[in-house]
Order: sequence, then structure tokens, then C-alpha cells
Amino acid sequence: MSIKPGSEVQTCDELSAAPEEFRLAVEKIVISHAVNEYYGAQVFDEPAVALAPTPYAKWLTCRVAMEEYGHHVRFSELGSEMQIAPERMTTKHKQPLSIFEFDLNSWTEFCVIKILADMAEVIQVEDLIRCTFIPLRKLARMTMPEEKFHVQFGLDFTAEILQGEGGFADVQDVVNRYYPMMHKFFGRPNSENNRIYRKWGIKQRTNEAMAEDYAARIEAIIVDKFGLQLPPAGAAV
Ligand SMILES: [Fe+2]
Ligand SMILES: [Fe+2]
Repeated sequence: MSIKPGSEVQTCDELSAAPEEFRLAVEKIVISHAVNEYYGAQVFDEPAVALAPTPYAKWLTCRVAMEEYGHHVRFSELGSEMQIAPERMTTKHKQPLSIFEFDLNSWTEFCVIKILADMAEVIQVEDLIRCTFIPLRKLARMTMPEEKFHVQFGLDFTAEILQGEGGFADVQDVVNRYYPMMHKFFGRPNSENNRIYRKWGIKQRTNEAMAEDYAARIEAIIVDKFGLQLPPAGAAV
């Protein structure tokens, strides 16, 4: 069969016969998710269990950590089915995202990060649920409710922190330090990778459109809902 831009690819076997540009583009996405879900779980979610202030919060944080490790497991399993060598799905070969360079030290930081970083992940996964590579589409559909739960977790616990003494200043301080780190998440404007993703229907939207959608959703939460301020996002470089 011949696979053209816009064709749906049903299986990993079919993918192996797809044009190289399509195959390599799908590989990039799967590798990036496999690496970053694992790395993020290690530097943010698992350490956050110790920072969580109550048994209830620890229990839910364990669930978040379990799900983030689970996302890595599912993406790396898909990568194996696609015949991607295991070492290509590790930090030895692929640098993790810069949003994980933040040194996590407090429960407030973790809760705000679950809003700011996981909302970005929700937007990315939303874009993949119509992906032309069907195994990736299915994986995005499985992952989506869990990523939405992570944002809701962040919203609920941040709302609780805002009620406490000094909570308003603490949350604002984390927003001020973390939000500017998010500007690189969606990639450069006019990105060649993104052009290829859209050409093959792997992704639907430009980096710019996703970044704009993200900024609007975060403003609705941080400014409209919580009454806090957003620092400048910084230029996407
Ligand atoms: Fe995840
Ligand atoms: Fe998440």
C-alpha cells in the first residue's frame, strides 16, 4: 500500500513500510514522550510524595507519580513495537525538556507545576488524539484523562494553599518563577519539525497556535480564577 500525507497508518508493521519522513517524525514524538514522562516522574512527581502534607495528599500524589511512570511505560512499549532501540529512549540520547530543570523543594511548587506543565501536556495530547498513526492516537486517548486529572489535582490543591496564611504570596512566587520556563515547551515558531508533523497529519496545529491556546487557558486560571498575576512568558526561542 502507498502511504501519502493524510493517510491513516493502522499498525507498527504498516509504519515500517511508510515513507521515512513520516516514520522518523512519529519516532521523534514517541521518543520525546518516553524520555520526558520518565524524567519528569523522577524529578517532580516521585519526590513530591515526600513533600505532600497529609496522607490524603500523599495518596493522590502517588497516583499522579504512578500515572506519569505509566505514561513512560506505554510510550516506551510503543517505541519497542516500532523497533526503536531502547537506548534511544533514554536521557543518554535525548535531552529532557528544560521545564524539568526547576529545582523542586516545596509542595506549593509541585501543585503549581501540575497546573502549568500538565496543562501544556494536555494541549499536546489533545493534538495527538486525531493523529494519523493510529497506535499513537490510541495511546493519546488513554493518556488524556490522566493528564486532565493532573491539572485538576494542581487546581484543587493550589486552591487549598491559597486559603492558607501566606498562600497567595507563595503561589504567586512559584508562578513568577515557573511560568517563564514554559515558553520553550511548544517549540519554535515556523518549526520545520512541526511543518512535517502537520503535513502527515501526525499533529494538527502549529506551535504558535498551541502556545497561544496555552497562554489563554493559563490566564483563565491564574488571573481570572485565582486573582493572581502572570509574568511575561518570554519569547519562544
Ligand atoms: Fe504524563
Ligand atoms: Fe501529567
